[in-house]
Amino acid sequence: MGAYKIAVIAGDGIGPEVLQEGIKVLDTIAELDDTLQFEYTHFPWGCEYYTQHGVMMDEDGIEKLKDFDAIFLGAVGFPGVPDHISLWDLLLKIRKSFDQYINIRPIKLIKGAPCPLKNVKREDVDMLFIRENSEGEYAGAGDWLFKGQENEVVLQTGVFSRKGTERVIRYAFETARKEGKSLTSISKGNALNYSMVFWDQVFEEVAKEYPDVKIASYLVDAAAMLMITDPKRFEVVVTSNLFGDILTDLGAALAGGIGLAAGANINPKKTYPSMFEPIHGSAPDIAGKGFANPLAAIWSASQLLDFLGYEKYGKLVLAAIEELLVEGNVATPDMEGTSNTSEVGDRVAKIIKNIQNIPLNNSGQLSEVGINIVL
Ligand SMILES: NC(=O)c1ccc[n+]([C@@H]2O[C@H](COP(=O)([O-])OP(=O)(O)OC[C@H]3O[C@@H](n4cnc5c(N)ncnc54)[C@H](O)[C@@H]3O)[C@@H](O)[C@H]2O)c1
Repeated sequence: MGAYKIAVIAGDGIGPEVLQEGIKVLDTIAELDDTLQFEYTHFPWGCEYYTQHGVMMDEDGIEKLKDFDAIFLGAVGFPGVPDHISLWDLLLKIRKSFDQYINIRPIKLIKGAPCPLKNVKREDVDMLFIRENSEGEYAGAGDWLFKGQENEVVLQTGVFSRKGTERVIRYAFETARKEGKSLTSISKGNALNYSMVFWDQVFEEVAKEYPDVKIASYLVDAAAMLMITDPKRFEVVVTSNLFGDILTDLGAALAGGIGLAAGANINPKKTYPSMFEPIHGSAPDIAGKGFANPLAAIWSASQLLDFLGYEKYGKLVLAAIEELLVEGNVATPDMEGTSNTSEVGDRVAKIIKNIQNIPLNNSGQLSEVGINIVL
């Protein structure tokens, strides 16, 4: 097996700072396995590139990226460049061009991670969000009429094609079946009388092909409440682009904070590269200080390993993050620590080297017997 070709788009603000630690962790994993190698190509795209060249990425950027095995992205967006430009001309352009129609966001409260909920067991916060990632409310369809006039009107059209809706719902059913978990659909059929009635209908249709998967369906407002009052209801979750975007930030707050939340943009057919990124933004308020939390980027490195077929190492990386949090000695200020970004990355790398031979249980946690390790 040759080296996996990884396109690195570090982006803006804390993007480069956290991504460096994600790469450190990938390299640590590669050191453990002679058959696994990564070859990185760095692309300088983002807001700084925009201020110099007037574009967020090269005109032929998509062409340049298309033969990579995966894309590892930091964050894009910075004051001075309108957010809709940085988002649409880089991040969404890649997601759409490469038909990365599945966005996977795990919301899992690992040991040692802070949770603002009272009386909730750690195991109760373990959801896998599968968000539609190519159309819906973020299709970019609409119009801006009579600009600046008294009768000004803007239209933002939600686009829900049968193909787009069915494929994400089917992917979610397959995932729930594979993991032996229930599947919850989140929509808003009472108010969105075209798009979400259609979504619910497709969900019911596809459900008939998966009688073995237990299902539930909630309106998005009720779901937001239930994620807080009764999170264990949610196992695998499928929802639209906008609802998924919002609810997974809520989920991030339940499961350790934004500094821990990762997301994978998947092209399931592998016709184009998939993209892995922390879900946080470029955090201009702390950029350049060296104290950004790299754990979300490291978690997305673990998703990248899963995607390439190295689930064993994906679990190892997660176990190392968990061990770091349980130790509680090395943490960035957002987690009430005093360590800097690279100290966290170094510690995760060291833990990986030390726990590589310790068996993990089925959920990728260190088994209780193995926890007594000398680091
Ligand atoms: N995927 C992406 O690239 C992405 C996602 C969201 C926002 N953005 C962009 O990022 C810019 C800033 O957006 P925002 O402020 O709304 O969201 P943000 O996620 O950048 O920051 C929100 C808050 O969380 C903190 N934070 C975020 N990540 C952190 C980390 N790893 N460690 C410690 N603290 C962290 C920040 O300091 C800030 O206080 C905007 O330009 C926005 O468009 C990009």
